[in-house]
This record gives sequence, structure tokens and C-alpha cells, in this order.
Amino acid sequence: MASMIPMKEFAGRRRKLMERMAPDSIAILPAAPERVRNRDVLHPFRQDSDFQYLTGFGEPEAVLALIPGREHGEAVLFCRERNPEKELWDGFLVGQDGAIEQYGLDDAFPIADIDDILPGLLEGRSRVYYPLGKDPAFDNRVMDWVKVIRSKVRAGAHPPGEFVALEHLLHDMRLIKSPAEIKVMAKAGKISAEAHSRAMKRARRGGYEYQLEAELIHTFMEHGARNTAYPSIVGSGANACILHYIENSAPLKDGDLVLIDAGCELECYASDITRTFPVSGRFSAEQAALYNVVLEAQYAAIDAVKPGNHWNQPHEAALEVLTQGLIDLGLLTGNVEDAIAEGAYRPFFMHRTGHWLGMDVHDVGDYKIGDAWRLLEPGMALTVEPGLYVAPDNTDVDEKWRGIGIRIEDDVVVTKEGCRILTDGVPKTIPEIEALMAD
Ligand code: GLY
Ligand code: MN
Ligand code: MN
Repeated sequence: MASMIPMKEFAGRRRKLMERMAPDSIAILPAAPERVRNRDVLHPFRQDSDFQYLTGFGEPEAVLALIPGREHGEAVLFCRERNPEKELWDGFLVGQDGAIEQYGLDDAFPIADIDDILPGLLEGRSRVYYPLGKDPAFDNRVMDWVKVIRSKVRAGAHPPGEFVALEHLLHDMRLIKSPAEIKVMAKAGKISAEAHSRAMKRARRGGYEYQLEAELIHTFMEHGARNTAYPSIVGSGANACILHYIENSAPLKDGDLVLIDAGCELECYASDITRTFPVSGRFSAEQAALYNVVLEAQYAAIDAVKPGNHWNQPHEAALEVLTQGLIDLGLLTGNVEDAIAEGAYRPFFMHRTGHWLGMDVHDVGDYKIGDAWRLLEPGMALTVEPGLYVAPDNTDVDEKWRGIGIRIEDDVVVTKEGCRILTDGVPKTIPEIEALMAD
């Protein structure tokens, strides 16, 4: 499948990063390692998000070096060599010529030669940007290359002296999504919305949580999204109160709600949707009452996603509606300001209202600048996901509320005026959900 992100955009990202790097510096970034699942079976390969962001190159055993001002090419890729015999077994390799022709790198070398070549690229550069401390094995390799130069100082070599985390520069770039990235994320959101609709329609008493997971995977795969962005959560009944429940093994019972938190990954971009609906197709009075509180909280939070507002404002808006709702329904007492100040809502709402979303489901980017919440800007993508969870053993509330867990989650991107919802293709209000399930 051709990439929805044009190759010139990857080149633009590399250029922008190099513009932000100090003069006489170099950036080094390895591809993700392959990981053994069992014996000689590997986990499906997923490229490192930073590496993917700068190259679009999907193979393991590769290293990118960015060397601003290098005469023979600034963007250099080390990658596997073409090998007809190996390719017969394991599939096509891009090789050095392909890296230059198809991926727009300036120069490429076999990965097997990296220990001979990289020290020469480091020589004379004073600062090295790399994913410092992320992988001890790579930290050691960088130091081994530096040591090669240090061993030649008496012959006049200049080893680098400063080592800086590459993430500082790169993650600020990744936080603001380009129009092409938003297109991919919108497509991922559309596929995931369709998957949730399918699961809703196929839920039935006597089925199992994993059967709904199968419906999700069916739709993801059908549209070419071969991976989930994270393990799907399908929690029925009180399982919905376990935030990261992925066992997905319980039978679906009449009278229970099912909480599904699932999203596909498309071209290394995540989507992340939660919907909560009744197995029977009809909400009970208590389920509907709590559901509508969460829904109103989500609307309030989405309204607060606009340029100029800070990161925490959607959370604050959701918190106010959730807490007021808990008081109105008798699950909490007192007034809303005190209940928020004292954290009285925490037994029912113990997570944040969202997170950055992008190549990683919990995407990179700072939430604060210094001590102040970051201001929202067009191109930032985030989730909005308030919830209410009444633990089955919470004896402080009337029995009728216990074991109900609800979360509603959508993906939004900040626009000039406010925000665009990328995941509105799946029902969210009670009448919409009941109508779809009755269909
Ligand atoms: N699915 C993980 C999350 O919603 O944050
Ligand atoms: Mn989620
Ligand atoms: Mn989320």
C-alpha cells in the first residue's frame, strides 16, 4: 500500500530537524529492534515511531544519521543489503539504492559496515543528538563509536563532547500534525468508528467479550489496518470498571453494559475510541442516568478544545459536569467546588480526560511548558475521554449503581476555530445507540 504521507514530507521533517540542531552536530537514530515472541517466532515488526517519522522506512536493522552541512549528503541511512536468497525466505528488502531512490535519503550504506563508517561521520562534530538512555545497548554502541575517535586524538581527531536527547527537538515537531498526518488519522478514526458500530450491532446475550474483539479486528483488517494501536479492551458488566481490562474472556449478560476501548493503527498512526452500550440494546434507568452525565461531560470537554485554551481546560470542564452529575444522582453529597477540591470524585473518575494522540496512542509532546499548562494550537491531536466507574464493592452508594462502568472517548484535532472530531462515525447518544442495536 502506498504511503499517504508523501516522501517529500519526510525529507521536509529531516530538514526542519537539522535546522533546529546546533551547528557542527549530528543526530543518530536507530530503527526498532526485532523481538522474539517464542523460540524462532518474532513479534510482528513495528517501526520505532521517531524513526518512522523521519524516514517512512519500515525495516529493522537500520540507523539514520543526520549530518547538517555534510558535503556528500546530509541524510544518511544504514540498512540491510539486498540479498536474493534471504529475500526468497523473508521478503523484499529495500537496500541502499532503494533507500536513495524510493525514500529520498542522500546517501546509504550497508548496516554491516556501520562500525567502520559511523566514527568517521562523528569526527569533528561537537554535539550528538540521539535517544539517550532509551536502549542501553544503543547507548553502548554510540559510546563505542565515540571511543574509536577518542583513540585517535593524538593524531588530531576531534571527538564529540556533548550528548543531547534527540527527543527534545523531535517530539515538539511530532506534536503538531500536518494536513497529511491528519488525513491518515481521520482515516484510522473512520475505520475504528466502523469497527465499533459493527461490534455494537453484533453484541448479544450468550456471546463472549472476545467475540466482540473479533468483530473489531475484522473491520480493522478489512480496511488494511493490520494492527491495533493498543490491545483492545472489551469489558462487560463490572469488568468495565477495570481501566485496562484486556482479558476479554467473560460471557455477555443481559442487563450488563459493555465498554469497548479499541482503535486501529494505520501507517503507524493510532486511533483510540471508547463506546459503552447495553448487551440487550436497551439502557436501564441507572445506566442511562450515569451515561448521560458522562456524555454531557464529554461535550463540555470537547467545547473546551480550542486554540488559546490550555491543556487542562477540557479536563476541568469534564470534571465539573461529572462531579455535579454524581451529586445530582446522590452518589456524592455537598457542593461541586468542595467535591472537586477534596477529590471526592476520585473513586468514580480516576484518570485524566485525555492525552496527546499520534504515532503513539499516548503520544509524545510536553503537557506543560515549565510549570504552566501548554496552550492548545491548531494541529495538535488529542483524545477526550471522560468516564464514571462505580466499583462493585463500593458500599458508599446505593446498590443499584454498583458495577456500572462507562467511558466515552473520541479523537479530536485542534483547528483554527475549535476542533474537528475524527471519530464521529459511531453512535454516541442513547437514542442513536439503541436505534443502531435495534436495527
Ligand atoms: N486506550 C488507552 C487510552 O484510552 O488511553
Ligand atoms: Mn482508549
Ligand atoms: Mn485514550
